[in-house]
Parts: sequence; structure tokens; C-alpha cells
Amino acid sequence: MNIDILLGLQWGDEGKGKVVDALSPSYDVVARFQGGPNAGHSLEFNNVKHVLHLIPSGIFHPEKLNIIGNGVVLDPAVFKNEIEHLGPSLEELVKRLVVSTRANLILPTHRILDAAYENHKGNLKIGSTLKGIGPAYTDKASRNGLRVGDILQKNFMELYEEHKAAHLSILKNYNYEFNIKEFEAGWFEGIELLKKFRIENTEYLVNKLASGGKKIIAEGAQGTMLDLDFGSYPFVTSSNTISAGACTGLGISPRLVGEVFGIFKAYCTRVGSGPFPTELSNETGQMLRKTGCEYGATTGRPRRCGWLDIPSLRYAIMINGVTKLFMMKADVLSGFKTVKICTSYKIEGRRQNEILFDNKATIEPEYTEMEGWSEVISGIREYRSLPATLRRYIEFIENQTGVPVKLVSVGPDRNATIFR
Ligand code: GDP
Ligand code: IMO
Ligand code: MG
Repeated sequence: MNIDILLGLQWGDEGKGKVVDALSPSYDVVARFQGGPNAGHSLEFNNVKHVLHLIPSGIFHPEKLNIIGNGVVLDPAVFKNEIEHLGPSLEELVKRLVVSTRANLILPTHRILDAAYENHKGNLKIGSTLKGIGPAYTDKASRNGLRVGDILQKNFMELYEEHKAAHLSILKNYNYEFNIKEFEAGWFEGIELLKKFRIENTEYLVNKLASGGKKIIAEGAQGTMLDLDFGSYPFVTSSNTISAGACTGLGISPRLVGEVFGIFKAYCTRVGSGPFPTELSNETGQMLRKTGCEYGATTGRPRRCGWLDIPSLRYAIMINGVTKLFMMKADVLSGFKTVKICTSYKIEGRRQNEILFDNKATIEPEYTEMEGWSEVISGIREYRSLPATLRRYIEFIENQTGVPVKLVSVGPDRNATIFR
């Protein structure tokens, strides 16, 4: 039971990067299991903020091993850009990072296809990050993908040209202009850089490390409500963001999994299209966006904001088997006279506690209103020093979900963390 999983319970951007970085000292290995450069994981220390897209969030800790698992889709151009801006030398990073042979590649044409599909959807667009995620996972599932291990084959260029040609013929059906050369240069430089890293069958590595007693944390991307099966389909991403995704995305048995840490914001945000029952299209929503700096770490888009949603949190806890809850951005709620929590939904006047299949239904959230807190809490490091009204808010969530809140985050810095 040496593998713990940390994943988002909402619509992504819960603060996974910050927490994985903060927990890294207790682990030997940090492994990403799904998603790709659609993710933007922020972490902050020594007053510098870093945003990671493909690289696991343990990369700033010298003695830790980071793994990009088989479930990830990797864009070499993004990889190169990220590696070059991290800070530590290439020699050092090569020691800290291993990439799976089986991770599928995002090709330049996947990004173009992503944009062409979204463009074609018009008003029904997903709000994709346009990083090529959907088309890359589509090729994986239809057994047409190229994988990281293929870059080491002699005929890689031939394979690449075949895949590119297949994509270009699809693109002929779309009225979408593009310039592939613009993407290809950086992509091939990325391939060369990738070859400098250890490319391995990481399923063996992970299992060997786990059986040798090393502690591993599996880092999720996106969030449960964006999961391909259980999110608000089709307004979802193209991978399984849930705990089961860690097993397929790293090649581990569920029997090796210990804790499942479920991370959520003290309120909710969503970026991109799709249902969001507690969304606040008013001044309160704007205040949450402003105080919480709720702008996408990957695309810079403003995030939609709303109150905490217990029915969706319960759903996410059930699907993932969450053992411990981590509550993020508690500091952002400081200053509200009262705070609200949605405890159930009403649809056409009838109470409904399940997450619906039909994502077009008009949901009326039923709220419990609680007294807020005005204190600035970013400097607090002990649970008992938090304002009593905030502690009541947290304990209310524990009662509603039946899962203990074991970590409370009060600021973006790795130290602004309260362990309980
Ligand atoms: P991720 O995708 O789950 O890693 O989350 P993001 O990095 O996309 O978004 C979380 C944002 O909130 C980032 O800008 C973090 O720096 C910031 N953040 C994380 N935890 C806290 C917190 O407790 N308080 C505040 N104010 N900001 C936080
Ligand atoms: P992290 O890991 C928030 C959203 C997009 C869009 C939908 C599909 O930082 O939490 P895609 O690019 O996958 O085709 O987009 O999913 N989305 C995210 N939203 N955080 C993310 O990642 C996201 N990754 C994708 O906005 O609605
Ligand atoms: Mg993010």
C-alpha cells in the first residue's frame, strides 16, 4: 500500500500542484497518470510562482523521482518549453524525471484538429484548452497513436509522416486555416530533448519502487467532474481523471493503493463550457474571481465561480473512494458576511441528490447559509487558531460528506498549509 493518489474533486484547478509540492518531502516518487498540457499546476515557494503542464509537481525537490506515466499524452514542444524554464540544469532534471515508453504523443496536427473541431462546434464548443488532448486520446483509443517509445525507432520519421498525412486528410473536411510549420519546428526540437531523458517501461519501475518500500504519490490532472465517464459529458476532458485512472495510467494494481486524497476548493470554479449548478453570475462571483485570482493557469481564461457544491462533492468522493479531504483556498472566503453551501438540488420543484445524466436540466441549488469570517488567515498554521466560523464551515462539510478534512490551505505558498 505504498501508493497514494491525489486528485481533484471538482472541475480542475483545485490546487493540486501546490499540495503535491507541499507533500513531496513525505514521498520518494511523484507520478502523473493522465491528462497532458491541458493541465496547469501552480506551485509557489520563495516568492516565485511556477506553472507546470506536463512535468509532475515534485520536480523542484532534488532527491525525488518524477514519472510521466503511460496514461499521459505528451506534446514534445510543450515538454521542451517547460524543461527550459524550470530552473534546474538539464543534467539535474535528467536525474529527476523518467518518461513512459507508452505515453501517447500529441502531434502538431492533433492541436490543429482540436481547433478545427471546436471551431466547427460553434455554440456547442467544449471550451477545450486546444492542446490537442481530445484528438490524441482519440487516436490512442482507435489504435492509431504514436507513443514516446516510437521516437527511438529507426523509422520514426516515416511513422510521423504517415500519421500527419492521415490527419491532413481529415482536416480537408473542415474549413479551417492553419500553418503546420509553425508547430513542427518546436515539436521536433522537443523530440530531440526527450531523447536525453530516461524513456522506460515505467510500469515496471513503479511496481519495483513500490515493492521496494518507496513511497509514491500519483498526481491527477483536471478533476472528477471533467472525467470522461463521470463528468458532464460531452463537456469533459478525454481521460479518466478519477482514482481508477491512476491504476491504468501507471500500471498499478488497486491493491497497492493506500490513501486517496480528494482535493477541493472552499468554493467552486469551472473554466470552459458545461453545467455548473452553483455558478454565481453576479457580484459575489466576481469577488470570488478577483480575490481567488481565478484565471486559467494554461489559457488565462477567467474561471466561472460559485459556492461549494456538496452533491457533486459526495459524488466525487464515492467514485474515487476518497479517504481524506484537503480543502484549498480557505483564505479566499475571508471577508464575506455570510457564506453559502449547496446541500441539495431541486429540479422542477423536486429535490434531487444525484448527479444527473441529463446535463441540460435546470438545477436549482438549495443552500445552507453560514456566518462568514473577516480575519486574514494566510499567516495561520494551526487548525485551532482558525476563526471559529471557518472551523464550523469545515466541520459542516465533514458532516455532509462523512470524510475528514485533513489539510486546509490558506495561501498559494507551499508553507501556507495547515495539516490536521
Ligand atoms: P491545479 O490545476 O489543481 O494545480 O490548480 P491551479 O494551479 O490551476 O489553480 C490553483 C490556483 O490557486 C493557483 O494560482 C495557486 O497558486 C492558487 N492557490 C492554491 N492554493 C491556494 C490557497 O490556499 N489560497 C490561495 N489564495 N491561492 C491558492
Ligand atoms: P488542471 O490539471 C481546469 C477543461 C477545459 C474544457 C474541458 C476540455 O489544471 O486542473 P481539453 O483541453 O481537455 O480538451 O478541455 O476541460 N480543462 C480544465 N479545466 N483545469 C484543468 O486542468 C483542465 N484541463 C482541461 O477548460 O472545459
Ligand atoms: Mg490548473
